[in-house]
Amino acid sequence: MSGKSLSEQEGLNSVPNAAARISTEATITRDPAEVRVGSAAGTGEEKAMSLVESKDLTKTYQAGEVEVKALKGISFAIEPASFVSFVGPSGSGKTTLLNLVGCLDKPTSGQLRVVGTDVATLGRAEGATFRGRNIGFVFQDFNLIPVLTVFENIEYPLLMVECCGARERRERVETLLEAVGMADQKKKFPSQISGGQKQRVAVARALVADPKLVLADEPTANLDHETAFMVINLMKSLKKERKTTFVFSTHDPKIVGEAEIVYTLEDGLVTNLEDRRAGHA
Ligand SMILES: Nc1ncnc2c1ncn2[C@@H]1O[C@H](COP(=O)(O)OP(=O)(O)O)[C@@H](O)[C@H]1O
Ligand SMILES: [Mg+2]
Repeated sequence: MSGKSLSEQEGLNSVPNAAARISTEATITRDPAEVRVGSAAGTGEEKAMSLVESKDLTKTYQAGEVEVKALKGISFAIEPASFVSFVGPSGSGKTTLLNLVGCLDKPTSGQLRVVGTDVATLGRAEGATFRGRNIGFVFQDFNLIPVLTVFENIEYPLLMVECCGARERRERVETLLEAVGMADQKKKFPSQISGGQKQRVAVARALVADPKLVLADEPTANLDHETAFMVINLMKSLKKERKTTFVFSTHDPKIVGEAEIVYTLEDGLVTNLEDRRAGHA
């Protein structure tokens, strides 16, 4: 994965179009940035910016004396309004990758642009502001605030970014409560609702500040299968309605089937990319 030529680096700009052209059956190995680029490459038509672009991204943790190479050179591009899954066994680097994309941690090397910003240039406080404005998170264990009601949990990110007045906040929260089917539960506390309902609230909370990108790290891991499908399909329909990009990680093959674009991670490397969208053959 090292020693990329200039032309390979330039190829990164064409990845969205390349990804859009991969057929349902197409699989590639090792580096999606090197996927065949398609006939539109170089025509000058493909100016659309990727929402997330990574090139040779690495992350090495220092655990005492031991170095853990969690990501070993990852390249990918995610287009706006896509529904993407990173799949791989435990320890393959999914959480590490989502944390980097979500600006919760810094890469060791490589390039990472999120919503047009080189995240390496962001300081700590800038990173927090950037995150609040552009990224929503859905966590495996929901992370709802127990002393706040369902309504207040969803409203919370709006208070953090000081985005709008009370009336607009109420309208935004009510709209999302409807969208996730939780309007009649808004006065309840997290302890009074089921796991699936908690995750629906968490999805609403991730969306309330209208982020371009929602990251969900194993959002269905604590849910039974039926509920897991409901949550994934909820994200899918919100993606369609709001043109939000959802990126989720999972090691559940059944859930993976719901994603439009699937990156397989193994031992810190992308080993496969599948694009299953209709009309993108
Ligand atoms: N903070 C950390 N310090 C040291 N090693 C870590 C840390 N976080 C993750 N790792 C290691 O990095 C590798 C990838 O972990 P992770 O990104 O959590 O994978 P996944 O989410 O796919 O299970 C694993 O070997 C894990 O033990
Ligand atoms: Mg993980």
